[in-house]
Amino acid sequence: MKSLNPKVQSWHNKSVWLVGASSGIGLALAIELSRLGAKVAVSARSKSALDQLVLDHPCIFACVLDVQDAQSVAQASEAVKAHQGLDWVIFLAGHYLAQDAKAFSYAEMHKHQDINYMGACRVIESTLPTLVSQKSGHLSLVSSVAGFVGLPKSLAYGPTKAAMINLAECLYLDLSPSGVGVSVVNPGFVKTPLTAQNTFEMPYLLTPQEAAQHMIQGWEKGEFEIHFPKAFTRMLKVLRILPYAWYFAIIKKWVIR
Ligand SMILES: NC(=O)c1ccc[n+]([C@@H]2O[C@H](COP(=O)([O-])OP(=O)(O)OC[C@H]3O[C@@H](n4cnc5c(N)ncnc54)[C@H](OP(=O)(O)O)[C@@H]3O)[C@@H](O)[C@H]2O)c1
Repeated sequence: MKSLNPKVQSWHNKSVWLVGASSGIGLALAIELSRLGAKVAVSARSKSALDQLVLDHPCIFACVLDVQDAQSVAQASEAVKAHQGLDWVIFLAGHYLAQDAKAFSYAEMHKHQDINYMGACRVIESTLPTLVSQKSGHLSLVSSVAGFVGLPKSLAYGPTKAAMINLAECLYLDLSPSGVGVSVVNPGFVKTPLTAQNTFEMPYLLTPQEAAQHMIQGWEKGEFEIHFPKAFTRMLKVLRILPYAWYFAIIKKWVIR
């Protein structure tokens, strides 16, 4: 089958900007892409974590930013373009706090939306004109299986991830004819600071390094949607097409004990 995006033959000298790479999946990805020869730029809020990454990997360029602040995103984007140009943008910045509707918090709903979804929009606004004018490059949004369907504890997080999947679909339709690739990444559970708060047993848990490998393989194959681990994500994909009566009954039995 024809791939939906241009396949990556080599990462050598590709300028990749990872937003949300001070820890977890983004950090593992930055190290691996740098090892594969990409020119890697990383951003996040934590200056000390980024400084440590640059100390360990001096060829990586770091630039602090807060995706909740449009001006800080614009400044970081200009700094990356000036330093190494821009071919690939990977948005990983994410906030997750388990929420229950019985303790509904508008503040948390807004914070999730402002980092996970509007943060992505701010990064897209600051980078897309460059990719479009170059008629090449790639924009990848890291969403989640929590965006497939409503899940327990996902009240604030899930809707932002569902929105990111829809956003990526719309971006793909508009941009692929102009030579700019778009992908969406839907990981299952990965052991990172983000999931450290989970008190339940996380099925099919991956390391950040394993997640990074899945993502790199997906981009190299030119996939639009990169989801993993397949044993888990395929099960969720089947669940989401069931009638709601069946879906809710299964989730209540399996997850809400
Ligand atoms: N771990 C999982 O099981 C899993 C599953 C599916 C999807 N994901 C998604 O994967 C992505 C990476 O998460 P992770 O698991 O690797 O967790 P993580 O280690 O907590 O990474 C989250 C990253 O986002 C950055 N970030 C958060 N708020 C930010 C802000 N306002 N501005 C700039 N950067 C910000 C954090 O850096 P600073 O705090 O330094 O700013 C950090 O680098 C997230 O989008 C997450 O939703 C994770």
